[in-house]
Amino acid sequence: MKNIVIFASGGGSNAENIALYFEKKGNAKVVAIFCNNPKAGVIDRAERLNIPCNIFTSQELKNTNTVDQKLNEYKPDVIVLAGFLLLFPGRLLNQYPEKVVNIHPALLPAYGGKGMYGHHVHEAVIANKEKKHGVTVHLVNEEYDKGKILIQESFDVESVDTLSSVEEKIHKIEFRIFPLAIEKLLSNH
Ligand code: GRF
Repeated sequence: MKNIVIFASGGGSNAENIALYFEKKGNAKVVAIFCNNPKAGVIDRAERLNIPCNIFTSQELKNTNTVDQKLNEYKPDVIVLAGFLLLFPGRLLNQYPEKVVNIHPALLPAYGGKGMYGHHVHEAVIANKEKKHGVTVHLVNEEYDKGKILIQESFDVESVDTLSSVEEKIHKIEFRIFPLAIEKLLSNH
């Protein structure tokens, strides 16, 4: 059985989808969720799913090793950033080389980097009248949204698309490709 640990800052629909996918598959398990936002929806989801949820501050992550110690206890085979808005520290990347994966709701390298998250991405895509938009799953390195791309999937942006229709299309793709990318990464280790 492989161990998956998820870091999330927001609603956590991807976290829940990943937990349910692997519960069904039975070959891996989401053993813990880590969250830096005490108001995040992912906390209630974790409780409902019976997954331990560890809340920490950005200062703890940046300047102490309390998160590291807790994380190591779960012996993660893969660390999944699912809507995680803080920079994942280099010292943890060194401890878990090629094992930290992120999802970004755009076709990287376009629309990536600090501040480009959630609705900011989709609003920019719509404002720029892009013809294509999509989702990227990539390994994490020390720069926002710059690691090796594992999977990318695009769709056509229609003239009738709105922020909410784009978000819906993005989530549909995310729910399908993120568990597959994680599964593939787990099989490489
Ligand atoms: C997703 O669109 C993901 O790509 C992005 O943040 C969003 C998180 O949604 N990084 P949720 O918290 O999984 O519902």
